[in-house]
Amino acid sequence: AFHKKPKEVKFAHDGMFGKYDRAQLQRGFKVYKEVCAACHSMNLVAFRNFAEIGYNEDEVKAIAKGWPTETPSIDPETGEASSRPSIPADKIPLVYPNEVAARAANNGALPPDLSLITKARHDGPAYVYSLLTGYQKQPAELKKKFPDVAAGSGSDPRDPKKAPGTLHYNPYFANLNIAMAAPLTGEGQVTYDDGTKATVDQMARDVSSFLTWTAEPKMENRKTAGWAALIFLIIFTGLAFMSYKTIWADKK
Ligand code: HEM
Repeated sequence: AFHKKPKEVKFAHDGMFGKYDRAQLQRGFKVYKEVCAACHSMNLVAFRNFAEIGYNEDEVKAIAKGWPTETPSIDPETGEASSRPSIPADKIPLVYPNEVAARAANNGALPPDLSLITKARHDGPAYVYSLLTGYQKQPAELKKKFPDVAAGSGSDPRDPKKAPGTLHYNPYFANLNIAMAAPLTGEGQVTYDDGTKATVDQMARDVSSFLTWTAEPKMENRKTAGWAALIFLIIFTGLAFMSYKTIWADKK
């Protein structure tokens, strides 16, 4: 009764003819880079992939080189582990070296890698948008009906009794209390290069559409191939029907 389905939200990539809006993907990338990347990795995407959303070679190099976390490297002679600035061929480096470090920095919760998040959740793009814009005060009835849920469940390592004030009510999140505080907090949190006004709603839309692209960079090819297949099948059906007519023409 408290959990809500994702909001209705329209994206440029929706539908059979849908295409990504490149400018929007770049805005969403900026939101990811400046807000989400503080906690969430995106380790299935390589820097060079950003060429597909409209960055040129020099821009991609600069993005890789300037990334706040570096690519791990091992000295071939001494075997010593260190890190180096990334190049376009590298995957986006992890935020934390391992899960223990990630949980230690997030009150015991684990920020998931966002590369495939829109595929990993039902109605992904709308879900991410709704989650980001869905933080609200915990309703009083929740406490009355489900005191355990309202307090965070006892078996939960993120139990607010152990770590008070670390869960946040969000009816779009499956267990209603999420360890992530609202990451998009106010207008102008990022400055868009194309002059679009960075309202919370706009940033949430943009980053959701960017995360749709990271999870399905070849969506446009898939849709085009789908149309080609359909047109072929229609023509083929016509041909097959005509051959059938010809083959059986003298059998009345
Ligand atoms: C979880 C998105 C910023 C920490 C999540 C989830 C999504 C998400 C989709 C998964 C929810 C689920 O499992 O269904 C984003 C986006 C961000 C952002 C798009 C930027 C706009 C941040 C930041 C932090 C953070 C800045 C750290 C300060 C976490 C944590 C979880 C989480 C700890 C796990 C929550 C739990 O298991 O209760 N985030 N996030 N996120 N995020 Fe973020």
